This record gives sequence, structure tokens and C-alpha cells, in this order.
Amino acid sequence: MKYKSVFDFDLKGKTVFIRTDLNSSVVEGRVVISSRLREHSKTIYALSEEGAKVVVLSHQGRPGEEGFISLKRHADHIRKFIDKPLKFVKWEDDFEKEIKSMKDGEVIILDNTRFLKDEQTKKTPEEHAEDETIKKLGVLGDLFVQDALSVSHRSHASVVGFKKYMPCVVGPVLEKEIEALEKLEDGTNNGKLLVLGGAKLKDSIKLLKGMLENGMANKVCVGGLFGELFLKANGTKLGAKDSFFTEKGFDEIVPAAKELLDKYSRKLILPLDLGLDDNKKRKEIKVEELPSDLNPMDIGVETTESFKKEIRESKVVVFNGPMGVYEKEKFSVGTKKILEAIAFHRCFSIIGGGDTERALTGFGLVPQDFSHVSLAGKALLQYLSGTPLPGLEILEKN
Ligand code: 3PG
Repeated sequence: MKYKSVFDFDLKGKTVFIRTDLNSSVVEGRVVISSRLREHSKTIYALSEEGAKVVVLSHQGRPGEEGFISLKRHADHIRKFIDKPLKFVKWEDDFEKEIKSMKDGEVIILDNTRFLKDEQTKKTPEEHAEDETIKKLGVLGDLFVQDALSVSHRSHASVVGFKKYMPCVVGPVLEKEIEALEKLEDGTNNGKLLVLGGAKLKDSIKLLKGMLENGMANKVCVGGLFGELFLKANGTKLGAKDSFFTEKGFDEIVPAAKELLDKYSRKLILPLDLGLDDNKKRKEIKVEELPSDLNPMDIGVETTESFKKEIRESKVVVFNGPMGVYEKEKFSVGTKKILEAIAFHRCFSIIGGGDTERALTGFGLVPQDFSHVSLAGKALLQYLSGTPLPGLEILEKN
């Protein structure tokens, strides 16, 4: 491991801040229990057992969105997972006094960091160090533990702001993620397949470019909305879906996809057919039969078979983003079959993407079917594309 670990330090009596990612799906106001909550609970437990005073930081949701809520319910869940003295403290409370009066082994979960006005402001780590709340917290801590890859791509105050005040080291959840990713860096320079889907087209196109350039992906199967972008870049008219691309401002990235296609045509595997939504029934259409008045919702049967062939021929497979609207059963086939093929093929597999865990469970798969299921989505791709992650740049090196 290239970074110093929290367990390299004597933690007894130390005030230790951990930046976790407790960010979870919120359904009808309820926080859905996920691996993020479970995994970070283990870190909190371990640090408390070592006698640290554990202060937990995390965000939840984005301002203006439904999931932008307090961390109180998350704290209640964690309290059920681990039998430790644990307090939830709001930003309106006297959090400095609460932290100063902590005893060894006690845990405080501070409220949603995105309730703080400067949290998401575009600033450098040095600038964030001067934020009002970071300054107050900074002088109280002995050690800062970065424990979430999934937030490390954000230069947010609670992710990068503490370097001025204390050593910043890696926690066990992040360590496990980095170790899995390092195995990819160590591997041979061939047989690395990326299966890239999902709907975050602008992010994905930049990261894909980096991964093709630095050899982290030798071949790429493109599916989902991302696959449709490449069909457009290849000159295919989708039909009804074309106006969706225009409305979402995705037309402007078609040239970037075309540039990749021209440069890496042999490495990019495009859909051959699609599953269309024909009044809630599924209709297969070959790419050469497009355009259509119906909307594509999944990769087609032939495409699934062609992607499965690529998986069988690969030593390493990274999956990021679904192949279609997997929440609807008729259009979940592509994502399900591709994930099954990865799970049951003897390869080193890394599965990432925000909702992946929910998809896996729905398909009857379990995390143990894969070499590593990342808790991160975009940050995972950013790491693999070679773009520096601000949250890792502040860490002490070994
Ligand atoms: C995630 O769920 O991907 C992380 O918690 C980061 O959330 P963000 O994309 O809102 O920064």
C-alpha cells in the first residue's frame, strides 16, 4: 500500500476524524441500508476498539434533491450495527464542546457535511483549510482518516481540508478499494476489458479517453445510453431517442465519441441490436434497421452474446454502469446476463457504480461472486483513467 494506514498509528486517546461515505438511497424518506453503512461501521468499530475518540464525517445527497437529509437515521442504523457509545451531533449544537469532552472509544457522528456553506465550494485544500468549520474542527483532531474512494474525486472541504492540521491517512475501506485497483495496474498489459454503460455520458466519455490512452482498458464494450451515444457517433440515427439526446445536451459530446471511435475503432465494441420499449413490451431491433419511433431501453440479444464473448476472452473485467433500464424487468436482461457472465467467468473482476449493489441483489448475485465490488462509481473510473483524485493527493505516503 502506497499510503500510510490508520493502523500504523497508536490510536489510544487520539481524536480521529474519519471521512466516510454514508450517502445512501432514500426511499419515501427512509435510508436504505447498504454496504456503505455496513463497511464504514466496521471502521468506526475498529477505531473505537483501539481506544480512539472517533468523529465521523459524511455527506448525504445533493442540495435540492430528495436525498438531501440529515445523518440522524444513518447514526441510528450504525448504532444498531455496533455496540459502542455513539452520539449524533448537529451543526447547530456545540460540536466543539462535544468533541472536547469525548472519552476514549466514544463515537460522534456529525451531521451532513453538505449542510455547511463552504463544503462544496470549488476551492483548493489550502483554501478549504480556512473554512470556518474546518478551522474549528482542525485544531481538535490528531489524525484524519480518508475511508471512501467514492468521495475522493471531490475537492470538498471535509474531503481535502484537514491536511494543514493533522496527518491524513488511509482507512480500511479505502485501502481495500486501492488494493483491488492496484492489482489492475500490476497486471499484464492485455486482456483488460471495460464494460461501460449508464447514463452519465459527459463524465464517462472523459474517463474512457484516459483509460484507453493509459492502457487500463484494452477493449471496451459500450452499452446503455453510453452505447447509444457511440451508435450516434458512428452515424446511426436512433429515431425517437434522438430528441432526448438534444434535450439533455448530449449532442455536444457526439464529436468526442466520434474522435475515440476513429482512433480506437478496434478496441470499442458497439451494440449490434437494441431492446425497444413497444408499449411496455420488448421488441428487438438490429442497428441497421434503425431509426425507430420506439425508445431503446436495453442492449439486444445479439449484443449481449457479443459482449459475453469478449468477457470470456478477458483476464480482467471492470464493469461500470448498467446496460439499460434494469429497474424494469423486461429491460434488465442485458445487465443481468452481462453481470452473470462476469461473475461466473474465471477472471479478476471489479464491479462499480452507485446502484450496482441493488442491481446485483435483484439478480440473485452476491458480492462474493466478484473479485471486488467497489462502493464507488465515477471515482473508480477517475482512478483508472489516471486523473488525480484530490482526496488521495492529501494522504501521507509510505
Ligand atoms: C456517490 O454516491 O457517488 C458519492 O457519495 C458521491 O456523491 P456525489 O456524486 O453527490 O458527490
